[in-house]
Amino acid sequence: MKTLSFPHDFLWGTATSAHQVEGGNHNNDWWAWEQTPGHIKDGSCSDPACDWWNRAEEDFDRARQMGQNAHRLSVEWSRIEPREGHWSGEAIARYRQMLTALRERGIEPMVTLHHFTNPLWLVEKGGWEREEAIPLFVRYVERVVQELGDLVSLWCTINEPTVVPFMGYSIGDFPPGKRDTRLAFKVLGNLLKAHAAAYHAIHRIQPQAQVGVAHNMRAMDPANPRSPLDRWAASFRDRMGNRLVEWALTEGVLRFFPLGRTERVPELAGSFDYWGLNYYNRDRVVFDISQPGQFFCRALPAEHSQPVPWWWGEIHPQSLYRFLKELARYGKPIYITENGALDNTDEYRPRYILTHLAAVHRAIAEGVPVKGYFHWSLVDNFEWADGYSARFGLIHVDFETQKRTIKRSGELYREICLAGAITEDMVERYAPEARDEIFQGL
Ligand code: NOJ
Repeated sequence: MKTLSFPHDFLWGTATSAHQVEGGNHNNDWWAWEQTPGHIKDGSCSDPACDWWNRAEEDFDRARQMGQNAHRLSVEWSRIEPREGHWSGEAIARYRQMLTALRERGIEPMVTLHHFTNPLWLVEKGGWEREEAIPLFVRYVERVVQELGDLVSLWCTINEPTVVPFMGYSIGDFPPGKRDTRLAFKVLGNLLKAHAAAYHAIHRIQPQAQVGVAHNMRAMDPANPRSPLDRWAASFRDRMGNRLVEWALTEGVLRFFPLGRTERVPELAGSFDYWGLNYYNRDRVVFDISQPGQFFCRALPAEHSQPVPWWWGEIHPQSLYRFLKELARYGKPIYITENGALDNTDEYRPRYILTHLAAVHRAIAEGVPVKGYFHWSLVDNFEWADGYSARFGLIHVDFETQKRTIKRSGELYREICLAGAITEDMVERYAPEARDEIFQGL
């Protein structure tokens, strides 16, 4: 009987973010953005989403029943500091309740402090375009750590630091909807500096805390490896999307060349106690001069047919393995802070989970210190500009009635979490066609 067993203390979790599940977040830039027709694909808005402000505990019960021992969630800045310098005791009390509820269920929380949304008051002051945002973020972080630190030891300062800059300031599909790549780099620089400042601030208050960033890395390969232009395009995009943040966190240098100057930020060097990796997919790219906002890259549809929209990227577990092997060089624990599939019918997700976890297992077996895996997501939720039209949950949510139904992938993940392993029998029942890929070499 072939089995892929994971370490006994492995964290088996799921991930969510405040704005995508809570409902009622009317005081941030995303809510304002959602009010303009055309911004959200299905015309929906983030209220009530999964109504977690009122019923998170019901889903925490489900997470526990599904064998999970960790959950990554975020706290919403605009709730905690609804006006500049004013703190909401009510919001803090509710977050304490949620974190306590997780702990009571034996679920270790990882708390993200910034997951895309910004308080309106901050945006009115120029948001992340201005360096003034940095001390304001640090003050908020200090407050949160003072208020919640007894319940949390795993902190994630910023979720996907490249997304607000590129989606909000270069491509323009996220708020504030600007198309100015130079400004995007400025925003990225400010977010990374804010991370560094927050990292040190958290450690001053809570020396034992484990602090990191959830960095989204998307694999980039040239569509035609023999074409120098495709190779250049893939490597340029890899540098801009993946490596820039990697170099910032490890070497303390912002390499914005050719769109800005290189800047040393010594406080950034080594400012992570774990590496948080958000990995979903890869792109095979061709050089395209008409796509400066995409760093002159155009992604091709996946070579093999896959039941997810082609623009979402190619499902490619080998690239997860490749990233993990590369990140091992930093000698720090690694958490997969997100991994998941856009799959509205749950047809493909079981196979996605199995093949990606098999890639994680292979990396661990070769000595890579992966300490946990957070599947995105526990429940279907508000998928930003896609509204409710893109489902990522292990649990199906009927957004009319708030009824929950565990999907087949949720059943599978429950079995894996409870066993701490992938067994041959699971593979036979959920994705027999992927048997060879999963048990490679066994
Ligand atoms: C990345 C983001 O962190 C999360 O908010 C989003 O919903 C998922 N990926 C899926 O796209």
